[in-house]
Amino acid sequence: MNELDSLVAAARLDFDAAATPADLENAKAKYLGKAGRITELMKGMAALAVDEKKSRGAAINVAKQGIENALGERRQALADEELAVQLRAESLDVTLPGRRRAEGGLHPVSRTLERIEAIFSSMGFDVADGPELESDWHSFTSLNNPPNHPARSMQDTFYADVNGEDGIAYNLRPHTSPMQVRYAHQHVKKHAAQFEAAAADPTGQLKAPEIRVIAPGRTYRVDSDATHSPMFHQCEGLWLGENVSFKDLKVVFTDFCRTFFESDDLVLRFRPSFFPFTEPSAEIDIQFQAGPLAGRWLEVAGSGQVHPNVVRNMGLDPERYIGFAFGMGPDRLTMLRYGVNDLRLFFDGDLRFLSQFR
Ligand code: PHE
Repeated sequence: MNELDSLVAAARLDFDAAATPADLENAKAKYLGKAGRITELMKGMAALAVDEKKSRGAAINVAKQGIENALGERRQALADEELAVQLRAESLDVTLPGRRRAEGGLHPVSRTLERIEAIFSSMGFDVADGPELESDWHSFTSLNNPPNHPARSMQDTFYADVNGEDGIAYNLRPHTSPMQVRYAHQHVKKHAAQFEAAAADPTGQLKAPEIRVIAPGRTYRVDSDATHSPMFHQCEGLWLGENVSFKDLKVVFTDFCRTFFESDDLVLRFRPSFFPFTEPSAEIDIQFQAGPLAGRWLEVAGSGQVHPNVVRNMGLDPERYIGFAFGMGPDRLTMLRYGVNDLRLFFDGDLRFLSQFR
């Protein structure tokens, strides 16, 4: 082995001994650096004759090439090793179960509200929305329930620390009934021309469009046990026109209940009751003919013919406009439909309960 071949062999041994890329770069300097062996050999050629320079130069270049090859191979080997170590450290166990995104679903009460809206929409009712923080006038006075009237104590109400325009504290509405007057005002305003024309027509033939609306939403009372929650839901209904009677209420509400519960033989009972804003008033009970609740009377709504004072507060003439209103409890309808016995389950946010309705 000549001197150049042993140089290449020595370089390869040094390179192979380098355990890290930094060690390898140090070893490289020894052969290929500015003061390295190859540079030294090149400098040594200065003393040679011209034709000797040629062959010597070519031989040194072959050795240099050999050293560079050895360097490149070791670099690659070190890089491969590093990658292998990294891959081993980051290895994935593909047999582990994946992390699923939890599947959501509609709340059971939301399902009921959608169902109520769909059924009443199919009967030509509009669906309206209104404020939960109400004025005293809308929650009580406009509904024939004036200040200091004993009927006010029918509900234990949450009051805000802020007074409304009437100088009385705002309240968290204890029922959706304020929507009767709110919606009627909107309706009369929207169809003002027709209401004026109807009022001015001496023949009485011209009719303004009837009010037919439901207003579902959240309501609040100071009340809490297995069947009462301080926040609960109601759905108001109002149908007002020139010839709308209690008979229509019976037909509409019976149709609604039978459709809602998918039970054609469901029986309804209208039990005399009292509300300041309806006269006469009735509590509506239903009775299933089959299933676990069969034979029991279950209260689902309050209702009645809209009181003339309320019609007046709507901006309408009670001699001309008549109709009925009802207020039902979607929470209770949901309990009956799914066989839930504690109302609080709806508001606890327990996924073991809620996920059953997905
Ligand atoms: N607002 C009444 C309640 O909360 C229900 C009702 C609505 C009764 C409309 C008659 C007419 O109990």
